[in-house]
Amino acid sequence: MHMIRLENITKIYKMGSTEVRALDGVSLHIRPHEFVAIIGPSGSGKSTLMNMIGCLDVPTSGKYWIDGIEGSKMRDNDLADLRNKKLGFIFQQYNLLSKLTAIENVELPLIYRGLSAGKRRKLAIEALKKVGLEDKMNHKPTELSGGQQQRVSVARALSNHPSLILADEPTGALDSKSGIEIMQMLHDLHEEGNTIVLITHDLNIAKQAERIITIKDGKIVGDMDNKNDMADAANVKASDLNDHIAEKTADLDAPLDGGGAA
Ligand SMILES: Nc1ncnc2c1ncn2[C@@H]1O[C@H](COP(=O)(O)OP(=O)(O)OP(=O)(O)O)[C@@H](O)[C@H]1O
Ligand SMILES: [Mg+2]
Repeated sequence: MHMIRLENITKIYKMGSTEVRALDGVSLHIRPHEFVAIIGPSGSGKSTLMNMIGCLDVPTSGKYWIDGIEGSKMRDNDLADLRNKKLGFIFQQYNLLSKLTAIENVELPLIYRGLSAGKRRKLAIEALKKVGLEDKMNHKPTELSGGQQQRVSVARALSNHPSLILADEPTGALDSKSGIEIMQMLHDLHEEGNTIVLITHDLNIAKQAERIITIKDGKIVGDMDNKNDMADAANVKASDLNDHIAEKTADLDAPLDGGGAA
């Protein structure tokens, strides 16, 4: 069974008399425990795709299944339920509630599961410990650095033990050291058996995934197995990979070499 199955998904945004085809017949299968990066230029449809996979928006046409459940047949309430029970989100801008403390933010997704207050607190503390922030539990987002805020949002994403973690440019707003820390957490979550879908326009980040899917003008134009390349340290492989990505993403603005991990 697939963790994610999309069949011919199209998303059209109507803006007055013009139409934007943000996704144009996307079919995609992602297996449980895969670590997939989705790359593509700005405006190519990456976030739109994540919103479909994350049941945050509905496609104009096409069918999709998340962990075997057909989302395209569900009503809003059931979609919200699917989202709350199965998915963990990490966004570029953290999306924490500013009036709530770190631990209250982490507890939010647990509320939908109908857990007791005590049980929620226990799971939230566990998640905050995992990201090394147990000493900042009672801080509000404005009392935390950007990297710490993103760690809170990682804790929020994993507190619920989701089947699937969706991250949209999770390192996009971070300095390189915090970015590396967040990527390490995603690697750890992957090692523990989570399925990870990571959206990025940074090739150095994408190369850390097992599989790299390239999207352009709302279409999948590349789908590359990166597992063997990752395991093989030989430079010739790395340069092949660079060439392959360069070819698929000729109009990406991110540099192909140098610059270090963002
Ligand atoms: N709510 C919306 N209404 C109208 N058009 C939209 C909406 N959301 C996205 N679009 C359009 O759909 C296309 C895809 O947008 P999307 O946000 O998925 O791109 P992206 O690949 O995530 O870009 P970026 O790398 O800049 O985040 C763009 O042309 C965008 O302008
Ligand atoms: Mg985006």
